[in-house]
Parts: sequence; C-alpha cells; structure tokens
Amino acid sequence: MSKLVEDILRLKKERKAVILVHNYQPPEVQDIADYLGDSLGLSQKATQTDAEVIVFCGVHFMAETAYILCPDKTVLIPDVAAGCPMADMIDAERLRFLKEEHPDAPVVAYVNTTAEVKAESDICCTSANAVKIIDSLDANKIIFIPDKYLGYYVASKTDKEIILWEGYCPVHIKILADDILKAKKQHPEAEIVVHPECTPDVIALADKVLSTTGMCNHAKETKSKEIIIGTEVGIIHRLRKENPDKKFYAASELAVCPNMKLNNLEKVFWALEDMKYKVRVQEKIREKAREAIDQMLRFSRID
Ligand code: 13P
Ligand code: SF4
Repeated sequence: MSKLVEDILRLKKERKAVILVHNYQPPEVQDIADYLGDSLGLSQKATQTDAEVIVFCGVHFMAETAYILCPDKTVLIPDVAAGCPMADMIDAERLRFLKEEHPDAPVVAYVNTTAEVKAESDICCTSANAVKIIDSLDANKIIFIPDKYLGYYVASKTDKEIILWEGYCPVHIKILADDILKAKKQHPEAEIVVHPECTPDVIALADKVLSTTGMCNHAKETKSKEIIIGTEVGIIHRLRKENPDKKFYAASELAVCPNMKLNNLEKVFWALEDMKYKVRVQEKIREKAREAIDQMLRFSRID
C-alpha cells in the first residue's frame, strides 16, 4: 500500500468518513472505495452510512444528491470543477415553461440534474430504474428530462407519451453504431452491453441495456466469456478486477468523461485533510428536491 493511500485511510478514520465512488472514476480511486456503484446505489448508500463525512468521488450532481439526502453530514467533492454537462443542459426556469405547456404531465427527472431542477420535478430516476418508474406513474403523458436518448429508450419500453428535452451525454454520443459493428466483427462471440445514455442506433445493436452497476452484476452472471462494453471506459477496470476469467472490450476508447477523470488520490487526500470542497444546497430547494429523490428511493425499495 502506498504512503498516500495509508494517509487517506488514516484521515478517513480520524474524520469518521466514508468514501463513495462512482464506477467511472480513475482505477486508483475505485480501489480505495468503501462503496463503488452507480447513481442509484450511491444515493442509497449515502442514506445508510453512519459516517459523519461523505467523500463523494463522482460528479457534482451525485455529491449534491448525497447532501440533499443527508444534510446533517458533511459532503465533500475532491474537485469542485467536476460537473456533468448533461445536468447543465436544463435549468429550473426552462423546466417551469415546459410544465406550463403540459400541466397534466408529471415530471420525471434523471438524477443527472441540479438540485433546482429536481425541486421542480415530481420524481427522480436513474438509468437503473427509469422504465419501471415511468410505468409506475398514474399518468399517460410524462415529461422526461434532460436526456433525450435515455428518454427514447424509455419511450420504446412503454406505451406512455413521453415529452423529451434536448439533453444528452457528450460522452456516450461518442460511441457509434460503427464502433459496435467493428468490435463485433473482431470479437464475434462477445455479448454487447450498453448504457441507456447511448444513441438509439447503438442501443438497437445491444444484447443488454444496463446501468453501470447493472453491467457489473450482469458480467458476473452471464455465461459469455467476452463482453463489448458501450459506456464510459472507467468501468472496465472494475469489470476486469471482478471477472479475471472474462474479456472486456471498450466499444470506443473515446468514451471518456473528463469530469470523472478530474479526481485522483491526491485530491481525495486534500479533501479529507482540508475538509473541502463542501457541497451544500439552500434549504428550501433541498426540501423540495428531497421529495423527488425520496419518491424514487421509496419506489426502489419496494421494487
Ligand atoms: P449510472 O447511474 O448507470 O452509473 O450512470 C451515471 C452516469 O452519469 C452515466 O453517464
Ligand atoms: Fe455526465 Fe455523461 Fe459524464 Fe455521466 S458520463 S457524468 S452523463 S457527462
């Protein structure tokens, strides 16, 4: 174990902290995680921990979600610049206009949104539960924000009318149908597993469409020995570590989320040493945003 990792673990104990890490984080950060997961799993973990401090190794909306759920804890993000461009593609004001146009349609907000946008929404979802959440709603017309591609995918799985927003993930759109076809040609026995943020032509070529933790679970369960992975490349580290007998191929090496890659061990150390950067949300917004996240978590517990 390196001196830096030892120092992080010592500080973590002193501060009564827990380190939550998203599946796209750099390998060395994944390796010090107390919990490694997808957006849904990480928000569930945030509500379950007894720790006083949460070091959130992911992007801003994820740390913000942890704070919304646990305002009595200190939530730290090691690099304040780690945002999610998709989350910034909609704001509360523009959402209010859309709601005025469709007053009878509940708003389902992907967790990749700001607290202000969540506060204007009825229920949140993640890539792990979007279809089930939409099906569970007592409405035939639904506003789905901000990811149009996740929205297309959901719309293809339900009879409900889905009103989309023009948002998308700039990382997942780099994965092209051609990349999948090429990879399949090189590895004809491989299964194709992609994230629902991918474009519809990529999704049409997939054997499975799963959240990041869904991919990790599936990789363990499937009989396939080779899998082509259509999502951010950071997840390949975890997949290989957990399945040394299987082969994983990134559908595109270009699918790199620069915001996820801002983090490193030094920054985790300094986050704990200096107790920075604290993520907070104004109380009025937090309470409303919490309602939308709680609705999702209540649903996910029943599920
Ligand atoms: P997951 O919830 O599947 O981990 O996805 C989060 C994300 O940001 C995907 O780009
Ligand atoms: Fe946002 Fe896309 Fe990065 Fe996920 S991969 S955090 S959606 S930019």
